[in-house]
Amino acid sequence: MRRRQFLAVSGAVAATAAFGGVRPAVAQDSELVLYCSPQIEWCQLMVEEFEKATGIKVAMTRKSSGETFAQIKAEARNPKGDVWWGGTGDPHLQAAEEDLTEEYMSSAFDGLHDWAKRQAATANNRTVGIYAGALGIGYNSELLAQAGLPAPECWADLAKPIYKGEVQIANPNSSGTSYTTLATLVQVFGEDEAFEFLKKMHANVNQYTKSGSAPIKAAARGETTIAIVFQHDMVTQKVAGFPIEIVSPCEGTGFEIGSMSIIKDGPNPEAARRFYDFALDKDIQEMAAGAKAYQVPSNAGASPPPQAPKLEQIKLIDYDFKEFGSSETRRRLLKRWDDEVNSLPR
Ligand code: G6P
Repeated sequence: MRRRQFLAVSGAVAATAAFGGVRPAVAQDSELVLYCSPQIEWCQLMVEEFEKATGIKVAMTRKSSGETFAQIKAEARNPKGDVWWGGTGDPHLQAAEEDLTEEYMSSAFDGLHDWAKRQAATANNRTVGIYAGALGIGYNSELLAQAGLPAPECWADLAKPIYKGEVQIANPNSSGTSYTTLATLVQVFGEDEAFEFLKKMHANVNQYTKSGSAPIKAAARGETTIAIVFQHDMVTQKVAGFPIEIVSPCEGTGFEIGSMSIIKDGPNPEAARRFYDFALDKDIQEMAAGAKAYQVPSNAGASPPPQAPKLEQIKLIDYDFKEFGSSETRRRLLKRWDDEVNSLPR
C-alpha cells in the first residue's frame, strides 16, 4: 500500500515535469480552496454538501470580509484561493474593481432576485449576490433591565452617555458588518456628521471585535448589553434561547448583499465554477437554516427561512453599493475611521 502511494506520487511528479511544470487538467478538478466569510457553521455545511455532491475535496478557511479581501490582495501575484463565498458585498465589489476576481456567468443567473443580479452588474459579473440581510441594533433585554436603561430606538441613541461601555461593534477594517454600518451612517447622516456620531459612540464602545457577528454572541452571553450586527445574526441567538431583542433604527438602516466571487488565476478554476453554480442552486440555498443562518437567499425560487427578518417590513435606506464598494471610498472611509475614531482614547 505504501509503495503504491509512493508510485502514485512519483507518477504525479513525473506528469508535472512532462507538462513543463503545468499541472495536468485532472488534478484541477480534485480540490477547491474556499475562502468563506459568513458564520463558520454555514461554511462547514457548504463544504460537506459540495464534497458529497462532487467528490471534490475542499480546503476552507473562515475569515471576515475585510480580512479576506486583504488576503486575496496580498496573494494576487500567486493566488492560493479559488472561491470567496459570502461576506458583505462591498469588499467583493472592491476586489472586482482591483482586478482580483474573475468574470463568470452562471447558468443559474436568470433565476436570481434582481438585487443579486444588480450586484453582478455593478461588478461586470465579477461577483454575484448570494444572500441579503439588514443591519440593526440588538440588545440583551435582561442586562438592559438590570442597568435600568431604556431600549435604543435610533442610531443617534447609541451616542448618548447613558450607554457608556454598553455597546459592542466590530472593527470596520476586518469586518464587513462594521464597514456596512460605517457606510450606512455616512448615508443616513452625511459624512462629517456620521464621524461626529462615531466619535461620540466610541466612548460607549467596550470592544471593537474582529468578526462582525461576535458582538451579538457576546450580548447573548451577557458580556455586552448592546450589539450592532445584522438582524439575522440576532435571530440566530434568539432561536438559541437567549434574551435578545431586535431594533430596526428609526432613521432607516443599511443592508448587505452577501456576495460570491471567483478569485483570478486561482489554482482550480474548473472546481471554482462548479462551486459557484452549486452555491446559487435553490436547494443548496434553502439548507442555510439548517446551519442557523437566516439571511434571505438570492435564488428567487428558494424560500427564506421562516425566522428570517422580513426585509420589506424594515425601513431600509437606498444603499449605494457602487459608491461604498468602490476602492477609493472604502479605503478613504476606513482611513478616516482609523485616524479620527479608533485613535481616540476611551
Ligand atoms: C455574519 C453575517 C453575514 C455577513 C458576515 C460578514 O456572518 O451572518 O451575513 O456577511 O457576518 O462577516 P464579517 O465578519 O466580515 O462582518
